[in-house]
Amino acid sequence: MKPGTFEYITYIWIAIAVIVHVTMFYITAPFGRHTTEKWGPSINNKLGWFIMELPSLLIMSYFLFSGSQSFHSYVWILFVCWIIHYVNRTIVFPLRIKSTPKKIPLVIVCSALFFNFVNAGINGYYLAELSTPSAYSESWIYGLNFQLGVLLFFLGMYINWKSDHMLINLRKDGDTGYQIPRGFLFEFISSPNLFGEIIEWSGFALMAWNLPALSFMIWTLANLVPRAKNHHDWYLSHFKDYPKERKILFPFIY
Ligand SMILES: NC(=O)c1ccc[n+]([C@@H]2O[C@H](COP(=O)([O-])OP(=O)(O)OC[C@H]3O[C@@H](n4cnc5c(N)ncnc54)[C@H](OP(=O)(O)O)[C@@H]3O)[C@@H](O)[C@H]2O)c1
Repeated sequence: MKPGTFEYITYIWIAIAVIVHVTMFYITAPFGRHTTEKWGPSINNKLGWFIMELPSLLIMSYFLFSGSQSFHSYVWILFVCWIIHYVNRTIVFPLRIKSTPKKIPLVIVCSALFFNFVNAGINGYYLAELSTPSAYSESWIYGLNFQLGVLLFFLGMYINWKSDHMLINLRKDGDTGYQIPRGFLFEFISSPNLFGEIIEWSGFALMAWNLPALSFMIWTLANLVPRAKNHHDWYLSHFKDYPKERKILFPFIY
């Protein structure tokens, strides 16, 4: 594919993210605590997570091993970061979440599948086929973008994993209800797991410094800002003693 055509497709993809972002403030994505039977047939929650995230893991692994540029520079580091995240999200996270009667609508699984195909497709194709060795050479490793980016990426991953871990452990085996999470960044915001994910993909975009990585950062914000608002409103409406000073997603700001 010509780089110009690829760029054009990526800009359209970013424009779709903006539309999805606005829509998500009016329509709550029906999974997890917001799940409802109104959205048609649904499947087991754990299976749903595995199916919807799998393309991202497979597509990036495929591009890493088959790409013409993958091992001509240090670009493989970006693939490895991506794959670490998606091994957790596709395999570890679904195995760890507690089984509840709640299911995930197929419509959510299919839309996430589509998102993951396109997102991993454009990022993988760009890194494996369109990137130039000079962009990810040794001097890239010593540059500020890489060093700050990799720091943010792993800091975000730590926040995301730790917060998911704390939330999952609020339930003892067999429990299906919800509690007010306390400690760590939960003292400041309602959704530190989503905050961590945003930090992570912002770090990735800084490291990679290319349009597809930027598009993923924008998509992450587009999805997670409204989702965090939905979570926060849900807490306020379900717990009378929910801490009033807690922000939604960004400590002290929002
Ligand atoms: N990159 C993206 O665009 C994107 C989009 C969506 C999600 N994600 C990531 O996927 C992960 C899950 O997202 P999510 O919005 O579904 O997370 P979430 O609502 O915070 O739930 C995470 C897990 O903890 C449980 N849980 C949450 N709050 C709880 C509470 N107060 N008491 C007891 N259990 C609680 C949930 O159970 P239930 O499922 O039963 O509620 C679920 O198993 C996050 O790490 C997020 O960053 C990424």
